[in-house]
Amino acid sequence: MTTLGTPLSDHAFRVLLLGSGELGKEVAIELQRFGCEVIAADRYPDAPAMQVAHRSHVLDMLDGDAIRALIAQERPQLIVPEIEAIHTATLVELEREMEREPAAQASGAAARTRIIPTARAAWLTMDREGIRRLAAETLGLATSPYRFVDTHEQYRAAVAEVGLPCVVKPVMSSSGKGQSLVRGADDIHPAWAHAQTGGRAGAGRVIVEGFIDFDYEITLLTVRHAGGTTFCAPIGHLQRDGDYRESWQPQPMSPLALERSQHIARAITDDLGGFGVFGVELFVKGDEVWFSEVSPRPHDTGLVTLASQELSQFALHARAILGLPIPSVRSSGTAASCAVLAHGHGVPVFGGVDAALAQAGTQLRLFGKPRVDGQRRVAVTLALGEDIEQARERARTAAAALRIELR
Ligand SMILES: Nc1ncnc2c1ncn2[C@@H]1O[C@H](COP(=O)(O)OP(=O)(O)OP(=O)(O)O)[C@@H](O)[C@H]1O
Ligand SMILES: [Mg+2]
Repeated sequence: MTTLGTPLSDHAFRVLLLGSGELGKEVAIELQRFGCEVIAADRYPDAPAMQVAHRSHVLDMLDGDAIRALIAQERPQLIVPEIEAIHTATLVELEREMEREPAAQASGAAARTRIIPTARAAWLTMDREGIRRLAAETLGLATSPYRFVDTHEQYRAAVAEVGLPCVVKPVMSSSGKGQSLVRGADDIHPAWAHAQTGGRAGAGRVIVEGFIDFDYEITLLTVRHAGGTTFCAPIGHLQRDGDYRESWQPQPMSPLALERSQHIARAITDDLGGFGVFGVELFVKGDEVWFSEVSPRPHDTGLVTLASQELSQFALHARAILGLPIPSVRSSGTAASCAVLAHGHGVPVFGGVDAALAQAGTQLRLFGKPRVDGQRRVAVTLALGEDIEQARERARTAAAALRIELR
């Protein structure tokens, strides 16, 4: 039986979000709808999810002691990592301590603290090596050929072994940071240098992956919940510079490719365990499917589900992590999303919002990010359509109607 209390009382069901970006903001809103007490944390103030939470904390989430102190202070029932850049080794230690001494934890008020989906899943997926070795070597799933290297010499040898073209990425990075496509000999050295400066952990280990010449790539949102595993319809997406620009649902697939995709998604998510939404990233060519990576949380390409599903990935995540049932995932129609990026320095101000929303079936989310320095995703447009092309066209048109000024 699931019991939910009243926020800000002794009977609150407290959820701590580690990471407070635009995806966390939507998760926070869904949790608020169930009367959860939502506590948002991130490394900078006024992050999107903080603006819809009951309280917030600013801390360095790569600092294990700071995370421990925050959890001891807030005593949440659920800890929900929203980003990869967290000191996940501390979550693994905490989970172990709680399993050993459930009664002694957090001075009693919370019955049990759970880490979503599991501390091990957060830990394995923050490092490309952990998740890749699990998928390819332990589970035997098809992936691109790969090598992990630490030195320039090993790197040269790995590129020769894997062959060109290949993709070079720091093991600790996301959103395409530090990532390069190596097409020819002239790209080899710059890709190494880029990986050494673009990673989260500074210079260090790199993965060299064979380039997969896929027909299309998908995110298969996979929900592990109290009643089992549920798959959403496949989401197609377009990436530029390793970051998502457009996504749409449903991506048409051959029955065999879909079956293989679901098989891979089930294998990897069953191994990671726990409750919640996973974004399983797959490459598809004909009937062939390769595993790329997985987020143990809602996925940026899954923003499209705000328009395309009756229960978005955020609503599904909230339900799953609270232990609530998910009898089915109903489609609201074919839809697309278009990411809106701002470039420069300053506080975003959005003009043309009326024009962006002029077409029927179009929606907009302005994330409320407090500042832009460089390039940052600040909004997303969503549109329903008769078919994918129309939905994408509408989402792009809406995005193009926005006039962003940085002040
Ligand atoms: N081996 C590969 N072959 C072909 N394309 C690739 C390969 N690896 C990455 N890509 C392309 O680059 C994109 C980003 O790669 P990946 O998902 O590994 O990086 P990321 O930094 O984790 O990005 P994100 O955080 O946005 O998911 C992929 O979605 C795909 O389009
Ligand atoms: Mg990815």
